[in-house]
Amino acid sequence: MLKFDEQIGIVTGGASGIGLAVAQGYARGGGHAVIADTNRDAGDAAVKELGREGHSAEFVDCNMTDSASIEQMIQSVHERHGRIDFLHNNAYAAWKGTDAGALVDEVSDEQWQHVLEIGLTSTFRATRAVLPLMVAKGGGSIVNTASVAAFRAEPRIACYSTIKAGIVQFTRTVAVEYAASQIRCNSVCPGVIRTPLIEGAPLGEDFLASIPMGRLGEAEEVANVVLFLASGLASYLTGETIVIDGGRTL
Ligand SMILES: NC(=O)c1ccc[n+]([C@@H]2O[C@H](COP(=O)([O-])OP(=O)(O)OC[C@H]3O[C@@H](n4cnc5c(N)ncnc54)[C@H](O)[C@@H]3O)[C@@H](O)[C@H]2O)c1
Repeated sequence: MLKFDEQIGIVTGGASGIGLAVAQGYARGGGHAVIADTNRDAGDAAVKELGREGHSAEFVDCNMTDSASIEQMIQSVHERHGRIDFLHNNAYAAWKGTDAGALVDEVSDEQWQHVLEIGLTSTFRATRAVLPLMVAKGGGSIVNTASVAAFRAEPRIACYSTIKAGIVQFTRTVAVEYAASQIRCNSVCPGVIRTPLIEGAPLGEDFLASIPMGRLGEAEEVANVVLFLASGLASYLTGETIVIDGGRTL
């Protein structure tokens, strides 16, 4: 198991799915996991479960579409713990519960703005807030959740594909700007992963047949890669984008 003893890690969208699996792995590896999310019930339940197992975690109510909320979350974690070693930018919520269905000429300004704010601007804002703290500490690791949608042009998800492609390039820029400060920044691109986000999506036999491994991914399978990137084992790895999709985009 990867070890995060004495370390503090923030996982946005850490109350469910991929983020939850990352927060659990981080805490079970000896780190203190900060679950930054809007879903207090799920976040509290995760913290309680980890506490019962003897691991350390906390929930922080943070709306990742709100600049002040992000800034306050990062500063308060730093004030309480004196350091931030790891930031996982991962929170996301689809526009009105679904990203599917809109061709480009049907996308409203509100939909575009929502996806941009929750998916891309939040990553910029949290990264901007944490960077000076990591520089002062002498280093850190940032991992951003992008998607294979960053590379595959599929119809009716223009906003989503655009922000995920933006995350990949933002990651590379942060990596170059802060490498000398021992801050690594990488992104992961999951394929289709079994989480609440894809509940109700039409993923029949034909879809499964399009995945060489013949199945959807599990949140833990993405979390394992994120945790590797967070850890010292990835000490010379920065600016990279790792696809985790059972071979679908090969
Ligand atoms: N599940 C997939 O197939 C898949 C594929 C590729 C990429 N991704 C990406 O993985 C990431 C996690 O997705 P998931 O599948 O685990 O989804 P999920 O719905 O299980 O988890 C998303 C979390 O984000 C939180 N969240 C939503 N809006 C928020 C806000 N304004 N502020 C703070 N937290 C907020 C939710 O409460 C939830 O806990 C997302 O960035 C998503 O785009 C998922």
